[in-house]
Amino acid sequence: MSVTVRVPAKVNVQLAVGAARPDGFHDLANVFLAVGLYDEVTVTPAEELRVTCEGPDAGQVPLDHTNLAARAAVALARRRGIEPAVHIHIAKDIPVAGGMAGGSADGAGALLACDALWATGAPRAELLAVCAELGSDVPFSLVGGAALGVGRGERLTALETGGGFHWVFAMAERGLSTPAVFREFDRLAEGRRIPEPVASRELLQALAAGDAEALAAAVSNDLQPAALSLFPELADTLEAGRAGGALTALVSGSGPTTAFLARDAESAEKVAQTLRASGTCRTVRTATGPVPGATVLP
Ligand code: C5P
Repeated sequence: MSVTVRVPAKVNVQLAVGAARPDGFHDLANVFLAVGLYDEVTVTPAEELRVTCEGPDAGQVPLDHTNLAARAAVALARRRGIEPAVHIHIAKDIPVAGGMAGGSADGAGALLACDALWATGAPRAELLAVCAELGSDVPFSLVGGAALGVGRGERLTALETGGGFHWVFAMAERGLSTPAVFREFDRLAEGRRIPEPVASRELLQALAAGDAEALAAAVSNDLQPAALSLFPELADTLEAGRAGGALTALVSGSGPTTAFLARDAESAEKVAQTLRASGTCRTVRTATGPVPGATVLP
């Protein structure tokens, strides 16, 4: 018997970053949108915990117990007094170290899959608490849709959206480390007063209305200057997507994946073609969002 869970990637339509806290984390106002690029996590009873991975980026995924999927299984098992004796297989389609919460998706996916396999009956609030222990973006991978995350980004409020948005994603030749991008943010911020992060009212209204042009005018990412500082070539990718007709172009989360909002499916295809022809990125994908969070497949 095995259980498979499908988990979406995310893009941040707003990422407002406050000053570094004493614990090293940053307070955020983080508006997440789950988009239709998915990892699938399958758990099967086994002699002992092990992780395998398939997909174009599989070589970059750690298969030891530092993998968020393995840590999720261990965390749930420990709470419930169960042995985490499962084989976790990840079919990976979300870029690794890309700023699209690929690792968080695997953590949330493994958690939900183990919960179903072991029939723990754990309440949703307990699963969300385990997610928050695993990482700031993991709770959102579980719930999906659209949400505002505050604190480290783990305290979520679901947001209404008035329709789907068409996105194009350009994957870069190499990854970026999230802690390194936050460190660069701190370095660039030195000597400046950093305002409290707050969600943009215009942005929330645009999401609620399903208005792509208004959303494009309101998106922002405070980590973008830091990501560009560490990976200056991303500016060429952003420019190529704009030239292809994107309503807006931004770095996704801590990057280096770049995200392009398009007016409709046809326009998204044009942006994707322009990006592919530009030679400024590794692969290009289109996806719509919001989509539901981690889901057990029948
Ligand atoms: O929570 P998570 O383990 O995903 O965070 C990875 C790293 O990103 C942290 O170690 C920290 O360096 C940085 N981070 C941060 N502030 C946040 C979230 C993440 O500084 N709110």
